[in-house]
Amino acid sequence: MNIKQIIQEKIRSIVTFENFCDSVEVRVRFSKNRKTFGDYQIEGLSNILKSNRISLETFKRKLCYLFSKEEYIKSIKIIEPNFINIFLHERWISRQIDTIFSKDRLGVSQDNYQKKIVTIIDYSSPNMAKNMHVGHLRSTIIGDTVVRVSKFLGKKVIKANHIGDWGTQFGMIIAYLKEILRKNCVKNITLEKIEDIYQRSRKIFDQNGRFSHISRRYIQQLQSGDDELLTLWNDLVQITILENQRIYDLLGVSLNKGDIVAESFYKDMLQDIVEDLKQKKIAVIHNGAVVVYLDDFKNHHGRSSAVMIQKSDGGYLYATVEIACLKYRCEKLKADRIIYYVDSRQTRHLQQSWAIARKAGYIKKRVKLEHHQIGMILGEDKKPFRTRSGRNIKLFDLLKESITRARKFIVDKNSEHLNKRSISRTARKIGIGSVKYSDLSKNRKTDYVFDWNNVFSFIGNTSSYIQYTYSRTKSLINRSNISPKELKNDFYLSDRYERELSIQLLRLEEVLQDVSKMGLPNILCCYLYELSNIFSKFYEHCAILHSIDDIQKENRIKLVFLTERTIKIGLNLLGIQTVSKM
Ligand code: ARG
Repeated sequence: MNIKQIIQEKIRSIVTFENFCDSVEVRVRFSKNRKTFGDYQIEGLSNILKSNRISLETFKRKLCYLFSKEEYIKSIKIIEPNFINIFLHERWISRQIDTIFSKDRLGVSQDNYQKKIVTIIDYSSPNMAKNMHVGHLRSTIIGDTVVRVSKFLGKKVIKANHIGDWGTQFGMIIAYLKEILRKNCVKNITLEKIEDIYQRSRKIFDQNGRFSHISRRYIQQLQSGDDELLTLWNDLVQITILENQRIYDLLGVSLNKGDIVAESFYKDMLQDIVEDLKQKKIAVIHNGAVVVYLDDFKNHHGRSSAVMIQKSDGGYLYATVEIACLKYRCEKLKADRIIYYVDSRQTRHLQQSWAIARKAGYIKKRVKLEHHQIGMILGEDKKPFRTRSGRNIKLFDLLKESITRARKFIVDKNSEHLNKRSISRTARKIGIGSVKYSDLSKNRKTDYVFDWNNVFSFIGNTSSYIQYTYSRTKSLINRSNISPKELKNDFYLSDRYERELSIQLLRLEEVLQDVSKMGLPNILCCYLYELSNIFSKFYEHCAILHSIDDIQKENRIKLVFLTERTIKIGLNLLGIQTVSKM
């Protein structure tokens, strides 16, 4: 059940039924200050009035009349000029609580129409021959959360890990292996070593003309299908994939081998695409290279910007692969919506590739392309988060450190009821959950400064605070000795703390819809944080196990059960495991 949507649809039906212009946007939002502003608030009232040239009086009368027939509404209040405040009816709230209590997905509905819409979510997508570093954390876990939430809502989602395995780095690495180390194979070599070779070879590439020439020749040979080089390249890629999978598993991210559609997957499409773009007069030859000029994008001289799709030596580029990938996703996978969780710095690359693919007719008009930009993780110095010596921090090392810190955090707080084994298990859950949460709770678009003090804290919007609330619900449930099946009486509200908690519990679907639509997991974090705060107030002000009578006790325990289930579902959708004891 999505209360926001119910209200929104009602307004829309009033507006269209009365033949008002329905192009005006009606915004409904959950109120922050409920006592004064109602439970929900409708915004943009003056727009509705203006564009329909009717008086406020008439509109008010119609609205009050039509809304008064709705059982979920207790009262509505028009605040001139722009707002309508809506107060939900206690009887209705109570009934909804019983409904969601009886459903295993807490009443979150799955829209059948959505099952037909194909959404491709492109995320993580690291480059090969390197370790994943801190910079990969955000795209990986934000993308994965949106995948989980969208699937939970019944959407058809295809995960796409567009790994970078077809870039020029392989020319350098192969040149280094063959010319300097005199090696023709890389079995039994660690990713650590491969990355080291990559960095060394890049330095030589920049300084030594002969080496760079040879590297270019190797990449050309590789891209034109030389068997021996392909074997070597494949080994390098497989080693990286294996190592990355270790990180996905540790992170509890749902990606696996089956989700990889590498850049190299598109290699056989590239020449045809270049030819097709030339033939359609979208691409032209400039100094031996093949280039597309885009009028809608200007370079720093104010001229149409040029996107190269084939180098003069015949090599292809990141953009060429992107265009092929778009064609494949639209024509073969029948995508309706493609979302990219990619660094903000790649906006131009994506938009230019989309523009070319649209021009070429590879993408139908109705297909939505969205770049869900990802900001950077910064260090205390406000520069990209690195080690003291200025190197990238490996993601694996960050996660290991988090688990170590979690262990200390748990032992410092309480060790009485945890044995050694369960401390290790809990440290892993808390360590991974806390770094993930600290990232997911930030708006993905903005950069943020990483600080361990905010990762592990019982205060504020942290995973530990929410886990703590969860463990409180668990312990209350245990102490009550009541099972959900025993709660047979109809629920009813008897006080304002129960009311506030109930409404928050009913909001889950509305929140998940927003997360999936906008790709913002921080909305879910914020919801769980508020739920924890509201639960705390309820816990403080309402006797639960010692209620005045059994009926009230049943009512309140029902809310505890629902809070426990909601937090569990919420954290799991964020890819975070719950712990029963903190
Ligand atoms: N491999 C790229 C990088 O590490 C990210 C790829 C993102 N996805 C895409 N379709 N371009 O920067």
